[in-house]
Amino acid sequence: MGAEDEPREELLGLVRSLTERVRLDGELRKPLCYLTRGKGGVEMPAAGAQEPAVERSGVEVSTLDPVLAELGDCRRCPLGGLRHRLVFGEGNPGAELVFVGEAPGADEDAQGRPFVGRAGQLLTKIIAAMGLKREDVYICNILKCRPPGNRNPLPDEIAACEPFLIRQIEAIRPRVICALGSFAAHTLLKSEAPISVLRGRFDRYQGIPLMPTYHPAYLLRNPGAKKQVWEDVQAIMKLLREGT
Ligand code: URA
Repeated sequence: MGAEDEPREELLGLVRSLTERVRLDGELRKPLCYLTRGKGGVEMPAAGAQEPAVERSGVEVSTLDPVLAELGDCRRCPLGGLRHRLVFGEGNPGAELVFVGEAPGADEDAQGRPFVGRAGQLLTKIIAAMGLKREDVYICNILKCRPPGNRNPLPDEIAACEPFLIRQIEAIRPRVICALGSFAAHTLLKSEAPISVLRGRFDRYQGIPLMPTYHPAYLLRNPGAKKQVWEDVQAIMKLLREGT
C-alpha cells in the first residue's frame, strides 16, 4: 500500500465503524444521536461524572459508547471476517458486578448478545439465584467474535481483543469481576494455574477483586461442580453486601 492510499484506508475504516455502530444501535433501538446532532457527535458524560450512564434529552449515553465506536466493524483478527455478529457485551454500564466469559458461541454469534445459549441460560439462573437480574450486571467475553466450531481462543485473537475488554472494565469500574472458566481467568490474571486451583478465592484485576469460577458450560457437563460455583458467587454477594 502506497502512502497515498493511507487516507483512503482510514476513511474506509471510519465508514466501516459507523456502519457497524448504526447497525448495533438499530438493534438496541437507540436513537441515532450522532446522525441527528450537529457538531458534538456522541454526547459524553461531563468530566468527572460518577455515573457511567446518564439520560439526557431522552438519549441514553454510556461511557461504553466510545469503546463500541472504536471497535466498529472490527477486522483486527481473522475472526472478524468469520462472524455473523460482533458480541460486545450487555447489561448495566454502571454495574457493580461484571461477568467475563470466553467467547461467543453459535447462539451468541447469531443474536449479537452474550450468554444466550444453554450455558447462558444457566448463567441467567445463577444471576437470579444471587438475587439479581441480567440487567443489573454486565456480561461480556474475552473475545467479541466466535471462534470457528467454538475452538479455544488463540493468543493473537486474545491480544487483538483484550484492549477493548480492558476499556470496558475501566468504563464500568465494577466493584467485583467474576471470571467464568479457565480462559477468562487465565487472560485476566495472567496465570496458567488450573481453574480448579484459582476458583474459590479472590484475586485482583487492576485493583478490582476478581473471583474465578467454573464456566456454566462446564457445569452443564459436570453438574456436581454447581456447589462450588454457588460457594464462589456467595462470596461475591458477601463482598458486594459488606465490602469485605
Ligand atoms: N460461552 C461464553 O464464554 N460466552 C458466551 O457468550 C457464550 C458461551
